[in-house]
Amino acid sequence: MAQNSNYETVDGEFDSLEDRSFLTIDDYDLSGQTVLLRIDINSSINPENGELLDDTRIKRHSATVKELSDKGARVTILAHQSRPGKLDFVSLEKHGERMSQIINKKIKFIKDLYGKKAIEGMKNLRNGEIILLNNVRFDEEEIELNKFTNDNFDMQKNSQLVKKLSPHASYFVNDAFAASHRCQPSLVGFAENMPALAGRVMQRELDFLGKAISSGPTPRIAVLGGSKAADSVAIAENFLNKGVHNILTGGVVANIFLFASGVDIGKPSTEFIKKQIPEHKNVIKLAKKLLTKYEGKIQFPTDVVLNVEGKRSGTNITNPPQNNSLFDIGIDTLVNYISIIKTAGTIIANGPMGVFEDSEFATGTNEVFRAISESNGMTVVGGGETAMAFNQMGLANGIRHVSTGGGACISFMSGETMPALEAMRRSKKLFSK
Ligand code: 3PG
Ligand code: MG
Repeated sequence: MAQNSNYETVDGEFDSLEDRSFLTIDDYDLSGQTVLLRIDINSSINPENGELLDDTRIKRHSATVKELSDKGARVTILAHQSRPGKLDFVSLEKHGERMSQIINKKIKFIKDLYGKKAIEGMKNLRNGEIILLNNVRFDEEEIELNKFTNDNFDMQKNSQLVKKLSPHASYFVNDAFAASHRCQPSLVGFAENMPALAGRVMQRELDFLGKAISSGPTPRIAVLGGSKAADSVAIAENFLNKGVHNILTGGVVANIFLFASGVDIGKPSTEFIKKQIPEHKNVIKLAKKLLTKYEGKIQFPTDVVLNVEGKRSGTNITNPPQNNSLFDIGIDTLVNYISIIKTAGTIIANGPMGVFEDSEFATGTNEVFRAISESNGMTVVGGGETAMAFNQMGLANGIRHVSTGGGACISFMSGETMPALEAMRRSKKLFSK
């Protein structure tokens, strides 16, 4: 699995974060300071033997851990793995071993979260030393105290975890972008007790996703596909509001816009939308609104590929597909999309162009993703499955930033208020001089 450094780890050079509403680890001298570092190393695990199946997130966060340690900070790591009831809901021991190999430094795993062993571990830290505490979701409060009221984080701040660990730390570093749509004690509770600083993974996510949406080189375009059409239409709205110039659609997302513009997409694809997207009426309504408000900015296929007994059959969109499903974008659409991608200054991609899991219908997705990875523009890939697809196709090398976030990335792209980011913004107001 050949990867470039941008994907596997965080490279050493950082522009200062354009969004000044967050503090970063550059804003304080952390040498000799005890730092609580929240990372997201939630990873695929083989439930049979507990072995890690993927270490992408561990590699990415390694950079922040190493940098803090190199700077002489006393580092206490907090993280989660899975959720109660799942087979991969295990401790973080293996994660710690892997990270220790990557950074070539000792990381002591402590099988405790805020009891005597954890506190002793924190108190005994010397400059540059690192400890990793137990899976934060082994604590009931981490699971239960998840309400976000928009006005305060008191519930999370008053959790045992936050109350017991806060007195022993001077700074909270939040690097867990991929969990920042969650409102749990380990993500939002510390920010009111001490300065909350963005770690390198967090900084890079905020920087690249922020630029891709609002301030990167123009023209800025987005490629939205896949079957999570409700999310994608919400993302399209936020992108267009923020000035993204052009949106290229594929998959079910394209079908929604085709349908909204009055095109007959045939019975099976219409049924799919009605059955699979519970909120389809509102989604179609929003799609119609966007088509009128942002006339000419949303591109959808002029020709498509139908699944006719498992084989590709191209047709112009003006010929209704009758009883076959739309499985890919057509060749004219592909040529048009590639020419738009070639001239784009910034490209953000989420979701495939068709049913790419079936190689018969993968052409549109393969070629569009290839064009994105060959672009000279600033390229960003968001969402867990899209990141995995670029990775499996061997195209992640050509992407400037592949997000670590799944749900968090979708939430960010939709412009939602994200509790952990909100907590960091408030912390800056509370603590910056
Ligand atoms: C993720 O993998 O999406 C994050 O680690 C968040 O995990 P969660 O969806 O279980 O909250
Ligand atoms: Mg998730």
